[in-house]
Amino acid sequence: MPELVESIATLRQRLDRLRGNRNIGLVPTMGALHGGHARLIEEARRECGVVVVSIFVNPTQFDRKEDLQSYPRTLPSDVDLCARLGIDVVFAPTAKEMYPHPLRCTVEVSHLADHLCGRYRPGHFQAVATIVLKLVEIVRPDRAYFGEKDAQQLAIVRRLVADLNVPVAIVGVPTVREPDGLALSSRNQHLTPEERPLAVSLYQSLREAERQIGLGQRDAGRVKSAARSKIPECDTLRLEYLEIVDPNELQPVDLIAEPVLVAGALWVGSTRLIDNVLCQPLGPLSGYLVSPWP
Ligand code: PAJ
Repeated sequence: MPELVESIATLRQRLDRLRGNRNIGLVPTMGALHGGHARLIEEARRECGVVVVSIFVNPTQFDRKEDLQSYPRTLPSDVDLCARLGIDVVFAPTAKEMYPHPLRCTVEVSHLADHLCGRYRPGHFQAVATIVLKLVEIVRPDRAYFGEKDAQQLAIVRRLVADLNVPVAIVGVPTVREPDGLALSSRNQHLTPEERPLAVSLYQSLREAERQIGLGQRDAGRVKSAARSKIPECDTLRLEYLEIVDPNELQPVDLIAEPVLVAGALWVGSTRLIDNVLCQPLGPLSGYLVSPWP
């Protein structure tokens, strides 16, 4: 069984003992672990001598009180899964342990949080960057694992460690999906049996964007309309955004000439789902007219 640790001081003591010359891997989560989290944990297990999974439903990053209250909390089964995956330490602090007093110093995120989810969730990525920096300072891992499912979060965490010279390698892990394509998410458990089949339309719209870009469509506006047309018109579904941005700075593009991130957020009833795909445009067509012979 992994050791379940709640206090920062105990965790630091344990890690001092375990560290030696072994690599430490950190997988930050908010619990309610599923197959997506398991992929991150397996990757960390493969690459690191010691793996710490943190489970902390970080209150500061929730912009809606109902979302924080209804967020699934399943610590005993999370610890069981970590045991099956051979984890050394589960760090599950209380909110009081992480925030003993109101923070007066936080990480500010500019530019990268202006679009996609950042536009609709003011302050969210500042809170995410701050908790990730706190966890990295507490654990001092060599490597930390994040899912591509939350592409904006991953881009911001990469930039956080680059800009602030944090000595940790950030590892991105591909999105794990249900057989029909729906990205695994802790929030999927809120979907009713009627909502579940509709939820996959977000992924279908992203795949349509990918198809259009693969066919050579370079006009982002046209790609977005084609993608939006895959979301059925019904009262249950509301597309919050579907945007095409460059994968590093996360700024909208009009003409698709380089790889782009196509990302969307869809409300399915009262559940908000996000997803994204990275798309590669066709190479320059003029290349076909160049003679291969000298
Ligand atoms: P949480 O939503 O629990 O996700 C923890 C990690 O699992 C994130 O890096 C997320 O991208 C990854 N993940 C979630 N679903 C996935 C899927 N279907 N496939 C692959 N990876 C997936 O993201 C957070 O928690 C928090 O914001 C956190 C970083 C822990 C800070 O509080």
